[in-house]
Amino acid sequence: MMKPVVLFVDDEPHLLHGLRRNLRSMRDRWDMHFAEGGREALVRTDQGRIDVIISDMRMPGMDGAELLSAIADRQPRTIRFVLSGQTEESDAFRLIGISHQFHSKPCETETLIAAIDRTLQFRDAVSDETLQTRVSSLQRLPCSQANFDALIAETGVSDPSAERLAAIVASDMALAARFLQIAGSGYFGVGDFEPTFTQAIGMLGVERIARIASNEDMFLRLPSSESGGGRLDRLVQHGVVCSQAARAVAVAAESDPESIEAATVAGLLHDIGYLALSDGSDRASDGSDIGGYGQERRSLGSERSEYGSDHAAVGAYLAALWGLSEAVVKAIAHHHAPSAYAGRPFAALTAVHAAECIIEARFRPAENRSAVDRMDRDYLAAAGVQDRVAGWVSQLSTSRFAEQAP
Ligand SMILES: [Fe+2]
Ligand SMILES: [Fe+2]
Repeated sequence: MMKPVVLFVDDEPHLLHGLRRNLRSMRDRWDMHFAEGGREALVRTDQGRIDVIISDMRMPGMDGAELLSAIADRQPRTIRFVLSGQTEESDAFRLIGISHQFHSKPCETETLIAAIDRTLQFRDAVSDETLQTRVSSLQRLPCSQANFDALIAETGVSDPSAERLAAIVASDMALAARFLQIAGSGYFGVGDFEPTFTQAIGMLGVERIARIASNEDMFLRLPSSESGGGRLDRLVQHGVVCSQAARAVAVAAESDPESIEAATVAGLLHDIGYLALSDGSDRASDGSDIGGYGQERRSLGSERSEYGSDHAAVGAYLAALWGLSEAVVKAIAHHHAPSAYAGRPFAALTAVHAAECIIEARFRPAENRSAVDRMDRDYLAAAGVQDRVAGWVSQLSTSRFAEQAP
């Protein structure tokens, strides 16, 4: 396999020098290039493939936002990161959408290496390059018009409530993914943190949320179909129910607080790959093609033969690219077959997998398989929780969300 090409761009020669020195150990694994400013970076880009670009923001001539947008035009498959010091608020807004992650200077070399490595690892799990490009080009994820309207309405009232905003964001995968990306990355201060919905809202604040939402390039708003819910509505509702169920399982399993939060986020976002498979274009505006999600859902095998990858791998790449937490990314990647995951079993994945099986058994009884039958028993045994599954099933079967159709 060819080494990934990683291009670092900064107008300060001593900074590039420092990066070159600190990253020496990566020479065997990455083909690294260092460009002193935007022009030089574009010359390098025209010479061949760039897998990852890491650019400073403030540079004379062409700044980071201009450079990344030129790169997005020339090589839309490129992973675009910013590595910058303190950024003006207006510059941060320009970088949202055009960059996938924002890392604040000074940044530990280990942190930067881990971020690049992890993104490449989940990109490469999507074998089809066209699909990789679709994910890295995605700007407008489809969200439900009703959720979007509720968000805008709440930001406009005289005393907006962070709790209500968090609840709205927690009920829509496109809103959640975008706000978690922006809050968890360093666009507006603290970077590299793994916010809950409430923390993301608190960190961004009402004004920024309203400003981000008002950017036409952020969300593709899909009206609910008059017949009472198109495929997007069903997909979004499925995420919401799964999020509540995964949280309940994580709580019942006495997971630590971070794992409970990760299970809640991963439950909502586990099928986000369908949004990317739908390619986020207006093709989805009538709800007719959300990547095949709907009553006649495909098998993962048929997704792979049509798209060259399945929604779990695609969703995990999107989440990794946007810098969501490791636990969330892995839970998305392995939610259908957790025993294929080679690492130690972990709570968020266990919770999402169990929750989904319980929900599917409840809402798709026609398939005539019990929740336990649907579960990956090898994985649950490895996680040491097989004795507790029956308890979760009975607990969740009486829960409130069981009344809502996904
Ligand atoms: Fe699902
Ligand atoms: Fe799924």
